[in-house]
Amino acid sequence: MEKTIDKTIQGNTIALEEKTSNTRKLYLESYGCAMNFSDSEIVASILTNEGFNTTNNLEDADLVLVNTCSIRDKAEQTVRKRLEKFNAVKKYRPHLKVGVLGCMAERLKSKLLEEEKIVDMVVGPDAYKDLPNLIKEVDAGRDAVNVILSKDETYGDIAPVRLQSNGVSALVSITRGCDNMCTFCVVPFTRGRERSRDPQSIIEEVNDLAKKGFKEITLLGQNVDSYLWYGGGLKKDFEKASEMQKATAVNFSKLLATVAEAQPKMRIRFSTSNPQDMTLDVIHTMAKYENICNHIHLPVQSGSNSILKKMNRLHTIEEYFTLIDNIREILPNCAISQDIISGFPTETEEDHNATLAVLDYVKYNFGYMYLYSERPGTMAARKFEDDIPLATKQRRLAEIIALQREHCSLKTKEHLGAIEEVLIEGTSKKSEEHWMGRNQQNTVVVFPKENYEIGDFVDVKIENCTSATLIGKAISYSNN
Ligand code: SAH
Ligand code: F3S
Repeated sequence: MEKTIDKTIQGNTIALEEKTSNTRKLYLESYGCAMNFSDSEIVASILTNEGFNTTNNLEDADLVLVNTCSIRDKAEQTVRKRLEKFNAVKKYRPHLKVGVLGCMAERLKSKLLEEEKIVDMVVGPDAYKDLPNLIKEVDAGRDAVNVILSKDETYGDIAPVRLQSNGVSALVSITRGCDNMCTFCVVPFTRGRERSRDPQSIIEEVNDLAKKGFKEITLLGQNVDSYLWYGGGLKKDFEKASEMQKATAVNFSKLLATVAEAQPKMRIRFSTSNPQDMTLDVIHTMAKYENICNHIHLPVQSGSNSILKKMNRLHTIEEYFTLIDNIREILPNCAISQDIISGFPTETEEDHNATLAVLDYVKYNFGYMYLYSERPGTMAARKFEDDIPLATKQRRLAEIIALQREHCSLKTKEHLGAIEEVLIEGTSKKSEEHWMGRNQQNTVVVFPKENYEIGDFVDVKIENCTSATLIGKAISYSNN
């Protein structure tokens, strides 16, 4: 449960392969959600064709790109701290150029150039194809900015360069942007309107990953259940599509089935589901295909109907419970995880207790829990005062985390004695002699290495556990 409080991930990323003819060095650092890491793979691909190879040594870099997150204030502060470090490097590497990509670029636009003197280039999430031109500008000594959001950019035509991958699991983005307008959330402003990627290009990417030996993919979107392909264009314009386009449209459950059938030996995961958009179809499709993993990340945010309404989450808690009941009935072995925000404006003790009651009802396998962070420009910031004292937010968050922790242990113990299929991802962090992998439910499993290899699917008998990790012994090799 190390990652309970913040799932925000960060890391500098280098490519698995390089082009020998390339001479300039790119240091690429990514923060935030999986979508940012997936975008960085697109950026690396574009720059590989522009004479850059990636490096994980900042001191070697000619160009630093930092792919940023704006979801909470803390995420932005972390990036600003990193910019100070790049500034220090520039003192003895004066030709070093620094570009800010992602959500902070889109939110702050050219203001970033004024606020952070080290920054030469500001590039929003839909403008990465313009990077070659922007870099030319920067090389000529001028600042460069492109934060134009797009109606149809999905980067479906770019083959991502897999960065620092274990060679087993890969991210495949299927939608961009979000139309949901949850009042606390900055994403609709930084990533624009929702659009879906051509299923043909998704299948091609998945097939290519299979050919390269990848064993697991995660289909990515801010709101995957809302995926809808009708020939291109914004989701909100679907009504204006022709009858023919409507009749042949591909929704998420259809896409999921097509991907599962295209590569029956690959594990398929997806993230994230917004409860208001998840249909029974999707759950039935998960039940039909063995290779679609039994795990649903289903953020609830709050257990109180009045708070859900103020958040513009377009479902009630009763509807959420019905969805949970349906998942339990159709997919009895499915793990469910959550996101929760503590201390949204006006939240009372009663509202908070309603959130604890949701935890008790669902008993999530794991979750990511956050203090409410007011984001400038969002509806919540405009309409509501951030009126819950920090100490109260923190106390409530601690109570939520403590309860989730109990449920984590409870859920982990349920696996004891079972035989579960594990996909090996690498060596266990704690022991050289053990492999680490995951079962379908996304729980980490460690077991003695014997003769198995990274990328093998192995049946493991679960014999022991800690609060979040299963410990077992391999009993067979399914040679997938
Ligand atoms: N649909 C997205 C959600 C993006 S944000 C996805 O693919 O994950 C991830 C989580 O961050 C949200 O579910 C929410 O719990 C949290 N979050 C978003 N905005 C926040 C804010 N202003 N303060 C605190 N937490 C926030
Ligand atoms: Fe944000 Fe809600 Fe979309 S949390 S990403 S506006 S589904």
